[in-house]
Amino acid sequence: MKTMTPLLIFALLSAFLLSCKPKSQPKQEDEEAKNKAAADSVEHLQKRGKYLVNNVAGCLYCHSKRDYSSFSGPIVSGSEGMGGQKFDKNFRGVPGEVYSRNITPAGIGTWTTDAVIRAMTQGVSQKGDTLYPVMPYVHFAKMSKEDALSIVAHLRTLTSINNDVPKRKLQISFHPTVTQVDLEKNVRPAFADRKLYGEYLVNMAACVDCHTPLEKNNLQMNKAFSGGQEFQAQGFIVRSANITPDSITGIGTWTEEVFLAKFTQYRSPDGYRYNPGKNNSIMPWTVFAGMDDFDLKAIYAYLRSVKPMSNKVIKNTQ
Ligand code: HEC
Ligand code: HEC
Repeated sequence: MKTMTPLLIFALLSAFLLSCKPKSQPKQEDEEAKNKAAADSVEHLQKRGKYLVNNVAGCLYCHSKRDYSSFSGPIVSGSEGMGGQKFDKNFRGVPGEVYSRNITPAGIGTWTTDAVIRAMTQGVSQKGDTLYPVMPYVHFAKMSKEDALSIVAHLRTLTSINNDVPKRKLQISFHPTVTQVDLEKNVRPAFADRKLYGEYLVNMAACVDCHTPLEKNNLQMNKAFSGGQEFQAQGFIVRSANITPDSITGIGTWTEEVFLAKFTQYRSPDGYRYNPGKNNSIMPWTVFAGMDDFDLKAIYAYLRSVKPMSNKVIKNTQ
C-alpha cells in the first residue's frame, strides 16, 4: 500500500487537473475575447469619430483657429477644438457676435456623453442656453446614434486647451424652438446605396448651409445648393459656388473624376500653402479633402440628383 501512495496522489492530481482545465480555460478566454471586443469597439468608435470630426462633420474648422495666409484657411495646428472663432454679420448675417466654444476636455470634459450629444444635436448647452444655429445642430440631429457616440469618443481624446471664449453678444432676443431628437431612429444608409449615403454625408457636412443663397439672412431652401451666399472674411470677399447639376452655371459638366480631383488636390500642403490674397476662400477644402474617395464619390452621386438651378456666381471680387 505504501508504494501505491505516490501513484495514487499522481492519479488524483491528474484527474483534478484534467477536470479543471477544460472548465477554467474557456472562461478565461471568454473574458479575454470580451475585453478585446470592447477595446476594439472603443478603438473603432474613436477611429470613426476622428474621421467624422476632422473630415466630414467639420467640427474643427469652426472650433479652432484658421490660418488665412494660406488658401482656404487651414486649421492652425495646436488649436484643435479650443474655440473662439468669431461669427458676425459677415457670416450668414449673425445679429451680433457668436464665438465657437471650447470643445476640448478643458471645455466639455466634465459633461456627460448625453449632455454633449444634446448640445450637438438639439443645440442646448449643458449650461442651459440655446446655441445659435450657426452651429449646425439641425443637421447633426439626423446622424445615427453610433456616429454621434463616435464623435463624442473622439472629442474626449483631443488635447485639452484652456481657452476662455468671449461671451456671445446677440442684438435680438433669441428663442428658437428646441425639438426633441431621437437618434435611435436615424439610420446611416448602406454604403451600396451611393446616393442616399451621399445625402447622409452632405447633411452631416452642412454643405447646404453655405451653398444656398440668403434672403434677409434666411436660407432660401427652394434654391438649395445654387450658391451665391456671400462671406466677408479676413481681407477678402467670397461667394459660394453653384453646386447643382446646371451645366452652365453649376457643376453639371463635371465628371466624377473632375469632382474628385477638385478635392484631392488639397490633400497635400503643396495644394494650399500659398497666399491667394483676395482670391481666398472660406470653404474648408483641406478638411473635406481628407474624406476618402468612396465618400467623395457618394457626395458626387447625391449632388447629381439635386435639382439643377441656374445661378451665375462670381466667387471673388477684388
Ligand atoms: C459652422 C461652424 C460650426 C461647426 C461646423 C460646428 N460647430 Fe459647434 N459651435 C459653433 C458655434 C458658433 C457655437 C457657439 C454657439 C453659441 O454661442 O450660441 C458652437 C457650440 C458648440 C457646443 C456647445 C459648447 C458649450 O460650451 O456650450 C458644442 C458641444 C459643439 N459646438 C460641438 C460641435 C461638434 C461636436 C461639432 C461637429 C460634429 C461642431 N460643434 C461643429 C460652431 C460650429
Ligand atoms: C463654410 C462654408 C462652406 C461649406 C460648409 C461648404 N462649402 Fe463648398 N464652397 C464654399 C465657397 C465660399 C466656395 C467658393 C470658393 C471656392 O471655390 O473655394 C465653395 C466652392 C465649392 C466647390 C467648387 C465649385 C466650383 O465651381 O468651383 C465645390 C465643388 C464645393 N464647394 C462643394 C462643397 C461640398 C460638397 C460641401 C459639403 C461637403 C461644401 N462645399 C461645403 C463654401 C462652403
